Amino acid sequence: MNVMLLGAAGAGKGTQATRIVDDYGLVHLSTGDILRKAVADGTPLGMEAKRYMDSGALVPDEVVIGLVKERISQPDAREKGVLFDGFPRTIPQAEALGTALADIGVALDVVVSIEVDPEAIVTRITSRRQCRGCGKIFNVATDGELEACTECGGEVYQRDDDTEQTVRARLEAYEEQTSKLIPYYSEHGTLHTVDGNQSPDAVYAGIRDILNGVG
Ligand code: AP5
Repeated sequence: MNVMLLGAAGAGKGTQATRIVDDYGLVHLSTGDILRKAVADGTPLGMEAKRYMDSGALVPDEVVIGLVKERISQPDAREKGVLFDGFPRTIPQAEALGTALADIGVALDVVVSIEVDPEAIVTRITSRRQCRGCGKIFNVATDGELEACTECGGEVYQRDDDTEQTVRARLEAYEEQTSKLIPYYSEHGTLHTVDGNQSPDAVYAGIRDILNGVG
């Protein structure tokens, strides 16, 4: 099964992705995580991506499509299926993904759009914290300020792009570009929506119902 999580910044894609990957054994492909690693490693790709990410803009399609094609060509992706988190984000990315999957004889089975009120998103994102080691996502509103990750003891940090100004730019990018994927995947018959304003457990229950109904 190949699944895509669609949603604005802070909709809860990463939070739900961890649960889905654990329960359904899919390969987690987060373009945001791949790009952040490239930034942290100081690679040429990371240096190019950073200026887009810091301003809340999307990284150019050709850069991101190349990363995804490389990852899905690896054997585990075909064997286990992939959870796409944060990709595609534009129509050209969606078209490139469709072609790349068809080339290896598979398809995107289901798209889950997590829908959240934009003002709730600004609060969520500015209070998000993440583990540099294992990537676990926290929120100071529910977890308090943590000195170390509760999972692996790693350093807990705030992402550079989690300022209010950048979040608003990311929300604009979502409205202007990524939201066009909703009618696109609706026409393809793969789109399902969940109310992301609920608790993480309730959101996941909705996602599980959708995934268990596929195939
Ligand atoms: P990316 O890393 O993908 O960021 P994003 O889409 O902006 O999404 P986030 O990771 O911020 O949020 P999320 O939906 O995962 O929410 P989370 O679960 O953490 O991309 C970053 C940048 O990389 C982009 O801006 C762009 O520049 C570039 N990029 C990436 N992919 C690209 C692509 N395909 N094309 C071009 N550029 C690309 O939750 C947020 C917070 O809310 C957490 O604190 C969490 O604890 C809390 N929370 C989660 N669920 C709930 C809930 N139900 N109730 C209350 N709180 C909740």
